[in-house]
Amino acid sequence: MSTASKGLEGVVAAETEMSFIDGERGVLEYVGIAIDPLARHSTFEETVFLLWNKRLPRRAELDEFSRSLRGLYPISESTAALIRAMPADAQPMHVLRTIVSALALEDPAPNATEPDAVRAKGLKILAQAPAIVAAFDRQRRGLDPVAPDSSASFAENFLWMLNGEKPTPTMARAFDACMILHADHGLNASTFTCRVIISTLSDIYSAITGAIGALRGPLHGGANEGVMVMLNEIPSVDAVEPYVMGKLQRKERIMGFGHRVYKAYDPRAVYLKTLAKQLAEDTGNADLYAKSSKVEEIMEREVAAKGIYPNVDFYSATTYHSIGLKLDLFTPMFALSRIAGWTGHALEQLEANRLIRPKAEYVGPHDQPYTPIDER
Ligand SMILES: CC(C)(COP(=O)(O)OP(=O)(O)OC[C@H]1O[C@@H](n2cnc3c(N)ncnc32)[C@H](O)[C@@H]1OP(=O)(O)O)[C@@H](O)C(=O)NCCC(=O)NCCS
Repeated sequence: MSTASKGLEGVVAAETEMSFIDGERGVLEYVGIAIDPLARHSTFEETVFLLWNKRLPRRAELDEFSRSLRGLYPISESTAALIRAMPADAQPMHVLRTIVSALALEDPAPNATEPDAVRAKGLKILAQAPAIVAAFDRQRRGLDPVAPDSSASFAENFLWMLNGEKPTPTMARAFDACMILHADHGLNASTFTCRVIISTLSDIYSAITGAIGALRGPLHGGANEGVMVMLNEIPSVDAVEPYVMGKLQRKERIMGFGHRVYKAYDPRAVYLKTLAKQLAEDTGNADLYAKSSKVEEIMEREVAAKGIYPNVDFYSATTYHSIGLKLDLFTPMFALSRIAGWTGHALEQLEANRLIRPKAEYVGPHDQPYTPIDER
């Protein structure tokens, strides 16, 4: 009988003061503050400060933090040249991972692991990741990059660099809320990857690069794209009922529902649903929202008893689509925000570091002869 814990399920492998999750009650808190009021009233910048400092900033502190972040928006000419070298058909997650990795090459001390150094490097990666995604997306559309707007918030600046026009306040608010909601979530797979890498006293660029790689998988950050693919497959609101029922009868999963940890309504989905509705109406995507809410209604009737509710990905899809993001930018959006969580976890890991090195249970044979190659 193997003693290995498959998928490390139930294993507590780190301590954190950043996010608390109670899956039974549908609770997520950042540093003790419930996610719903944060999404409604905070900003992404304030949330990053909260996660990295374990307290809310005073106004002057937030201004100073925002100023530092905004000062780091512009990418270097060598980073811009590397983005130009990316093939037009590359996937944005591969581009983001490659360019974040390359940011180490322009850092005179990339390997420094003192807290202030890691924080400064994390801030630069966080500030520049939006420019990387936006510049690459414009390039593949045959458009020139748009210089960042250092007077704009993280959310406004990204949408400005992507579209070359200022977002509406509703759009900026919805995007900012998505950034807040995705910033941290316990010891998920990409965060664990980040902590494993930094625990070797490697560098923050390697840790975040590895985390982006882990996030890309369809079992992790890729699910929001799956929701949009599904919504595109459903031609109209009337077609939702037969589509969902058909899938459930065939024992297929409905994307954007269910969660390994939450067995109640994902607290990140509550406010997102309101934002998705408003944004969809404002942008001529009311049909998309109507299809989403019909899917939710049928799922509520059919499977809520099993603890299957919408997760954060479900209404992110309508929100991102209404903002005008292409499907393959959905997972990069998750990455832009989660860089905050990854950096915070790297800082926590380094505070009381111990190399993360679990064991594997050997299940192969013993006492095998070595057969010379010509005799095999
Ligand atoms: C996230 C997920 C992997 C968690 O799965 P899990 O904790 O292993 O849950 P289980 O596989 O044990 O599912 C429990 C029951 O709910 C059902 N179920 C779970 N998710 C479902 C979904 N999305 N649609 C329909 N039924 C679902 C299962 O079929 C199972 O039913 P059964 O007991 O009759 O066999 C799963 O819910 C899923 O695949 N969701 C869709 C993908 C997704 O949105 N991922 C993003 C997560 S943030």
